[in-house]
Parts: sequence; C-alpha cells; structure tokens
Amino acid sequence: MLIVTLSYAYKKLARPIFFLFDPEAVHNFVTGLGEVLGEVSELNAIISKMFSSKSKVLKQEIAGIEFKSPIGLAAGFDYEAKVVKVLPSLGFGFNSVGTITNYPYAGNPKPRLGRLPKSRSLMVYKGFKNRGALATAEKLSNQKFSIPLGISIGKSNIPQINTQKDAILDIVSALKIFENSNVSNSYYELNISCPNLFGNVTFYKPEYLNDLLNETDKLKLNKPIFIKMPIELSNNQTMKLLDIIVRHRVAGVIIGNLQKNRNDKAFVKDELKKWKVGNFSGKPTWKRSNELIGLAYRMYGNKLTIIGCGGVFSAEDAYTKIKLGASLVQLITGLIFEGPFLVAEINKDLPLLLRKDVFKHISEAVGTYEE
Ligand SMILES: Cc1cc2nc3c(=O)[nH]c(=O)nc-3n(C[C@H](O)[C@H](O)[C@H](O)COP(=O)(O)O)c2cc1C
Repeated sequence: MLIVTLSYAYKKLARPIFFLFDPEAVHNFVTGLGEVLGEVSELNAIISKMFSSKSKVLKQEIAGIEFKSPIGLAAGFDYEAKVVKVLPSLGFGFNSVGTITNYPYAGNPKPRLGRLPKSRSLMVYKGFKNRGALATAEKLSNQKFSIPLGISIGKSNIPQINTQKDAILDIVSALKIFENSNVSNSYYELNISCPNLFGNVTFYKPEYLNDLLNETDKLKLNKPIFIKMPIELSNNQTMKLLDIIVRHRVAGVIIGNLQKNRNDKAFVKDELKKWKVGNFSGKPTWKRSNELIGLAYRMYGNKLTIIGCGGVFSAEDAYTKIKLGASLVQLITGLIFEGPFLVAEINKDLPLLLRKDVFKHISEAVGTYEE
C-alpha cells in the first residue's frame, strides 16, 4: 500500500514539477541527491527495509553473480557512478555505470536530453558524456557494492579514433583499466550499439564484431561480459551477430539499446518534430526489443543469458520480457515516468504474476511465452 501511495504521489506531485524544468538539470539534481543520500547509511538501511526485494522466487545466480532482484538500472542514467549506493535501497537488483570510454568526453552539444511525454519516451543525444575509464575505475575501486555493478564500456567518442583497428585498441584499453583495478561484484557490458558517435566505426558487420571479440577473448577477463545490442537491425542481421557472439567468451546479450526508427508506431508523431537529432528510449523501443529478445531466446537461449531492456514501465512489462526469454530486465525511462518506487512495485508484483502462472521460481518462467 505504501509503495502504491508513494508512486501515486510521485506522478501527481513530483513529476509535474520535474517536467517543468530542463531534463538534464533535473537529472543532475536527482543524481546529486542520490549521491548524498547514498552516503547516509542509517537512512539507506531504513529505505532498504521498506523497498528492497526479499523474495526468494526472484533471487537468481547468473554467470557466477547473485541477483536478489531481476530488475536493474540500464546504462545511461549514471555516467558518473553517483547513485550506486542508493539504488540497492530502492529495490534494484543490479545497476549499470556508463557507458564509460577510454578517453573522457564532455558530451554532445545541448540539448542532449528531451521528453516526449505522450510517447512515453526520452530523446537521447549524450554521446557517452563521461569522465573516462581511469577516473571512473579509481572512483569505483575498493568500494563495497551490495548489488552487482555493470560497467558499460564503449568506443571513445573522439574524432581521432576512426578506424576499426583503433576502435578495438581503444575498447581493449578501457577494459584493461577496469581489469587492473579493484571493482568488486561487477560485470561488463560491451556497448556496440550507441547511435550517437563520431566517425564510421561499426561492429554491426559480423566480421568486425568477430575482430573485436577475438581481442576481448584474449584478455581472459575476470568478470563476465554481456553485449549491448542494437534494435535497429533486421532479424537476419541480428541473427548473424548472435552467430558470432556465441563463438566467444560472452555470457549474454542485453536487448537492447535506443530506437533510431522514427516511424515506430509508439511515437505520437507531433512530439518528434521538435527533435532533429538523437534517438529514443521508452515505449518506442518496446515492440522491437521484445521481438529480438524472442528471436535471441529461440536461437541461443541455451547458450546466452538475455537481459531484456526497453520500455519497461510495470511488473507486467518486465514479466513479458521474462516470458519472451529474458532472465534479467533493465530500465531507465520507466523510472523517470513512474518514479523511484517503480522497482519496489515490480519486485512486489512479479512474484504474484509468477504464482498466477504456477511458476515456483522466476527461472521457470523464462522463455515460456507462447505465440
Ligand atoms: C538518458 C539516456 C542515456 C543513455 N545512454 C546510454 C549509454 O550510455 N549506453 C547504453 O548502452 N545505453 C544507453 N541508453 C539506453 C538505455 O540503456 C536503454 O537501452 C534504453 O533507454 C531502453 O530502455 P528504457 O526504455 O527502459 O529507457 C541511454 C538511455 C537514456 C534514456
């Protein structure tokens, strides 16, 4: 009851105020507040008692890592690792930092973030604004994280890195920095799908992705690595990338990234006119990410763990992705629209949805969707 009331209050009181202000300014305020709250351990303990998941049916071990809840924060919310300490209290089972790149990047010209309230979407044009691998690894080293931390790594967004070979060297350098630092309870997300970068480097050609993964294999990484997939490729192109991925030391795939296709039916068209650049999160990613989760599960559900991401705004949404084949689920936009208690609400309602379908544990539901 408390969670439902707080969610209602967020939507009726806080959200209308937040939505009056510039989205990036609100984002900076919220992450700053999260950082401060994260330091007050007594307060976190109280919040955690109310909101963190204690349900045994949601607890999983995946790639040697324990997840108390299947719901995580996707890459892109916490570029500077500010909210890592407060998220567990809100019920998150894991969270991503980044995308982090070998070289720092100040971000694309503003506006880098926009709202499409009717489409339940955000316009994203950040281009990997981050402090770089070294500074981030230093900040994260020797800290204790109570939930797994996904370190999202991508190609540095600088014009000098504009060949396939240099891009691979750049990504490998960033991975090495994290391998040589002491970031506990973590895994990697290799972001091959950011749509807002300089140059023509691509890992969408199977042979180019193969070249990259040959080099990451050689690192013999100590932590599992997941590939963050695009959703704008065709089924056929996606299948070819998956065929490559399963030949390498990769634990799974995250499906997927932002929506590039402005013709997706979830858009309320007049909201798009305002944004000449950028790509889109939220409901416009929902359908395509679901199609590709189903495809990946049918092809390689026995070899790859799937993390479903895109347009999750409720427990029912998360459950749809799980039944399509996702073992874990990530979100960002749902959090902005539904508020900070969304994850606690999902943790509360998911066990009920599982029970209704006579599943004793979340793992039994994965991939059970019948078309
Ligand atoms: C503000 C913002 C920034 C993002 N930046 C990144 C990023 O740096 N790396 C990445 O892999 N995905 C990034 N994404 C994509 C999200 O991780 C996610 O794939 C996408 O938003 C779909 O999930 P959602 O509908 O729950 O937001 C970003 C998304 C948003 C909204």
